[in-house]
Amino acid sequence: MTIPEQPAPSDEVVPLLKVAGLVKHFPITKGLLRRQVGAVQAVDGLTFDVRPGETLGVVGESGCGKSTMGRLITRLLEPTAGTIEFEGKDITHLGVAGMRPIRRDVQMIFQDPYSSLNPRHTVGTIVGAPFKLQGITPEGGVKKEVQRLLGLVGLNPEHYNRYPHEFSGGQRQRIGIARALALKPKLVVADEPVSALDVSIQAQVVNLLDDLQDELGLTYVIIAHDLSVIRHVSDRIAVMYLGKVVELTDRTSLYATPMHPYTKALLSAVPVPDPGRRKRGAASGGSGGRILLKGDVPSPIAPPSGCRFHTRCWKATEVCRQQEPPLQALRTGHQVACHHPENAPA
Ligand SMILES: Nc1ncnc2c1ncn2[C@@H]1O[C@H](COP(=O)(O)OP(=O)(O)OP(=O)(O)O)[C@@H](O)[C@H]1O
Ligand code: SF4
Ligand SMILES: [Mg+2]
Repeated sequence: MTIPEQPAPSDEVVPLLKVAGLVKHFPITKGLLRRQVGAVQAVDGLTFDVRPGETLGVVGESGCGKSTMGRLITRLLEPTAGTIEFEGKDITHLGVAGMRPIRRDVQMIFQDPYSSLNPRHTVGTIVGAPFKLQGITPEGGVKKEVQRLLGLVGLNPEHYNRYPHEFSGGQRQRIGIARALALKPKLVVADEPVSALDVSIQAQVVNLLDDLQDELGLTYVIIAHDLSVIRHVSDRIAVMYLGKVVELTDRTSLYATPMHPYTKALLSAVPVPDPGRRKRGAASGGSGGRILLKGDVPSPIAPPSGCRFHTRCWKATEVCRQQEPPLQALRTGHQVACHHPENAPA
C-alpha cells in the first residue's frame, strides 16, 4: 500500500537545504562545431531536504553522481534543471555576487587531502584564505584565528608556518576541515572525507567531524561509497543509483529494514568486481541472504529504461523494464523507488 504524501511529524522542521528535481547533464560534443551528440546524465532528478543539525549520508557506487550532487548543492556546478533553496532562499542560479554571503554558510570538504591543498602555501595561508576571499578580519586577527582553528581540529597551533607535505594524510584532511570551518558555516558538504586515508585514521577523522558537529551546531551532508563509513554519523541516509535517489530514510530503518534491492545488496556485501564477465550481469539473491552485486553501474550516457537498476536486480520484472518507479513514502518517513520493495508493509 502506498501512503500518499504524508509528512511525518519531524518533516515539519524547516529544512536548511531543500532540493527539488535537481538535474545535471554534462553535454557530450563532437567535431569542430562542438555539436552536442548526447549527455552524461550524472544527476537526474533529485528531491530531498537537509534538516538543521542533522547529518545526511549519501551513498552509492562509483559514478552514481554523488560528487556531482555535492558540487551542485554547494553551487560549484550550475544545475541543468531543478531548484536549490538554502534557508528558504532560492539559490539555484545566483551569480558570483549573489552567492557571496551564501559561500560563508555552505562549505565543502574534499576527498583528496593531497591535491586539495596548495603545496606552495603554508598551512596558515591555506586556512586563512577564506578570510581574504571574503574580505573579513576575524576578531584578534587572522593569525590568531587560524591558530584557534588548528587547535579546534586537533593540530598544533604552532605549525601554521609549515607546508602541507610536512603533514600526514589524516593531518592534511584536518587542515582541509579547519579551512572549511573558518567562516563558521552552517552546512558542510564532505565528499568522501576519509576514503583517501588509511583505515586506521578514518575513524579518527570521522569522530572529529562528529565532535565538531556537536560543538559548532553544524549540519552535514557526508558522501561515501559504502555504508560502513557513514553508519555511525548519519541521522538519515540517501542511497543513490545512476543519478537518482532510490531510497531515503533514517539510519535505523535503513539498516534494519532496507526496502530497495540495491540498498539490500550494498548492505549485504561489498560489491565485487567480476572480471570473468564483461557483460553486465544480474545480481543474484543468495540463499544465505548474501547478495553479490555483479557487473558495473551502467553508463549514465544511456541509462537503462524504466528502473535504472533493472539490469542488475534479481527481482526485476517486465514493469521494472518499462516504468520508472517514483520515489515515494511506503512507510512513514521511509521513501523508496521500487516496484517490488523488500520489507514492504503488508
Ligand atoms: N565535468 C564532467 N563532465 C562530464 N562528465 C562528468 C563530469 N563530472 C562527472 N561526470 C560523470 O558523471 C557521472 C557521475 O560522476 P560523479 O563524480 O558525480 O560520481 P560519484 O558518485 O561521485 O563517483 P565516485 O564514487 O567515483 O566519486 C560519471 O559518469 C562521471 O564520469
Ligand atoms: S523496480 Fe524492479 S528492477 Fe528496480 S529495484 Fe525494484 S524490483 Fe528491482
Ligand atoms: Mg565522487
